[in-house]
Amino acid sequence: MLIHIEDISKEYKRNDEKFYAIDHINLDIKEGEFLVIYGKSGSGKSTFINILAGILKPSDGSVKYDSLKITDGEDKKISEFRNKQIGYIGQGYTLLPNLTVYENISLSAHLYDKKSKEKEIEEVCKRLGIYKLINSYPKDLSGGEKRRVAVARALINEPEVILADEPTGDLDSENTVIVLDIFKELAESGKTVIVVSHDKDAKNYTNLIYQMDKGKLTRIS
Ligand SMILES: Nc1ncnc2c1ncn2[C@@H]1O[C@H](COP(=O)(O)OP(=O)(O)OP(=O)(O)O)[C@@H](O)[C@H]1O
Ligand SMILES: [Mg+2]
Repeated sequence: MLIHIEDISKEYKRNDEKFYAIDHINLDIKEGEFLVIYGKSGSGKSTFINILAGILKPSDGSVKYDSLKITDGEDKKISEFRNKQIGYIGQGYTLLPNLTVYENISLSAHLYDKKSKEKEIEEVCKRLGIYKLINSYPKDLSGGEKRRVAVARALINEPEVILADEPTGDLDSENTVIVLDIFKELAESGKTVIVVSHDKDAKNYTNLIYQMDKGKLTRIS
């Protein structure tokens, strides 16, 4: 799936001053590419990921997945597309508190696809080292454990595109390697992976490194 980003910008106003959180970004991302985005706090990384996910509307420009424009108004087609084709790992903690780990992961699998994913859930949880937690609730998990559940949830529908906003931010080095290895394998199998990271080791996984600076995205390697 080709991601075609055409001249997107996001303008915000703070203290009566307008500024670009995203400043006219153009980029095509091809199947099988693994992009890592570095950048200072406040540079626009999450804004960019959220626009790509269709969660946030740009002030200008558009994002297309093949022929589907995700920046058009929300409709059933776009939500279904997002649920099936995009594995989104947001920066915050987004697990539903009243559901167990297992239920959190299986929820999106059940939305459109009624088959049970018990085996797949078991497998991905084992790989991420969270299998013993599947009957626990989010409040009883550590930050890094919650992050790994969010990774498992994003992967369970075998999406074509992974959008991950600091997925390894609160992981130790062992779990960081596990997560980045999974992303690398996915890219090698033809999926597209876009990861925001502060982890300098991420550059060992790809040669497509970008830097976000005041809403502008530049390739640095
Ligand atoms: N709703 C909003 N209204 C006004 N300004 C906003 C809004 N959302 C984000 N911003 C501003 O836009 C800029 C980019 O924010 P963003 O969350 O994309 O940064 P980031 O690079 O992800 O930072 P971090 O590394 O801290 O997560 C920041 O200056 C932020 O304060
Ligand atoms: Mg952010």
